[in-house]
Amino acid sequence: MYYVELNNGVVIPQLGIGGFAQSKDAIRQALEMRYRLIDTAAQYGNEAEVGEAIRESRVKREDIFLTTKLWTEDIRQGRTYEAFQESLERLQTDYIDLYLIHWPAEGYDKAWKVMEGLYREGKIRAIGVSNFHVCHLDKIRETAEVMPAVNQIESHPRFCNQELIDYCMRKGIAVEAWCPLGGAGSRLLQDGTLAKLADKYGKTAAQVVIRWHIQRGVIVFPKTAHRERMESNMGVFDFALSDEDMALVGEMDRGKRIGADPEDFGF
Ligand SMILES: NC(=O)c1ccc[n+]([C@@H]2O[C@H](COP(=O)([O-])OP(=O)(O)OC[C@H]3O[C@@H](n4cnc5c(N)ncnc54)[C@H](OP(=O)(O)O)[C@@H]3O)[C@@H](O)[C@H]2O)c1
Repeated sequence: MYYVELNNGVVIPQLGIGGFAQSKDAIRQALEMRYRLIDTAAQYGNEAEVGEAIRESRVKREDIFLTTKLWTEDIRQGRTYEAFQESLERLQTDYIDLYLIHWPAEGYDKAWKVMEGLYREGKIRAIGVSNFHVCHLDKIRETAEVMPAVNQIESHPRFCNQELIDYCMRKGIAVEAWCPLGGAGSRLLQDGTLAKLADKYGKTAAQVVIRWHIQRGVIVFPKTAHRERMESNMGVFDFALSDEDMALVGEMDRGKRIGADPEDFGF
């Protein structure tokens, strides 16, 4: 496993398991298979299942890096503190490793202040944001006493989002890629360039893409509910893409998002 050190010294595994639409059994299986980074969110509606999976696994809580997120309605209603407590209860834990503002809903700057308080109290080890453009990051940075440790954004070979990644990295904000494999139902993994690279390195297309993210310094947590895919998605630490092949994957960029634009999301 590789690790990334966040701007407050906290260390996060660079590869984990995506929590969207995941069951208790899938998360427990991932933990049994050496996954130690779990990405969930209040909005996924499965924090209770994630909490159960952690409790039932034989892995110690302190060996797990647990991320969850504050949903937009809670931001708008000024319920950050309450929403955080509710997440703790559902997850059956007394701290969160990384707590993120899920989307920049109106009031996110006020939510950030509450998160800073929870961070100082030791209830959260690192605080960050998700789906933030440069303008949102700059607004937070104007008044923040604790700088965001992470920005979790859409990024995959069809939408590399490289400019934003470069900006974050220059500012010391670690980047996490969501939909790292192009998301559910995507045909990305059937792409001819990836097939050629998979053949060249004796790997799967998914492994090539995960390795590409890792070599860019990005943190990833592909979602799979299948044991064999969990195993193979982890098999990315025994090869390296050449600079030319890194560039080839980067050239697949079509600048087309799968998800909503943070400037204009309707939820
Ligand atoms: N912050 C945000 O706004 C945001 C938004 C979206 C997602 N996320 C986070 O990012 C995580 C990952 O994103 P995602 O779940 O949307 O998409 P993803 O990880 O890019 O793709 C998941 C899809 O790829 C399939 N898959 C996984 N490994 C595979 C393999 N080796 N070969 C072939 N197919 C494979 C999965 O199918 P099976 O399960 O059937 O294997 C699933 O349909 C989420 O789970 C969530 O934690 C955050």
